[in-house]
Amino acid sequence: AEIRVTERNGEARTISADSGRPLMEALRDANFNLQGTCGGAMSCGTCHVYIKQDWNDKLPAKSEDEQMMLEAIADLVEVRPTSRLSCQIELSDALSGIEVEIAPEV
Ligand code: FES
Repeated sequence: AEIRVTERNGEARTISADSGRPLMEALRDANFNLQGTCGGAMSCGTCHVYIKQDWNDKLPAKSEDEQMMLEAIADLVEVRPTSRLSCQIELSDALSGIEVEIAPEV
């Protein structure tokens, strides 16, 4: 799947990653300085991204745990309606071309 990424400094970069992997791993491995510290356990919030609205509409709804983690980091960084934990998004061919923005560090 292709991922169109806006970095924290505003630069745009497109990367490719295998379908079936979490978006977090693809971003972490491509050195966007996105940590994914908890490895996808929804307990760190360091994989936070903003999804472009059109793509956000195509994603499965957030779980209660994901929503709670996003609320927990809302004191530290801007959390938007399009905020997601990238560890909870599985890449697929249907999501190829997805546009994401790396959120500020927590
Ligand atoms: Fe920790 Fe996603 S990697 S919440």
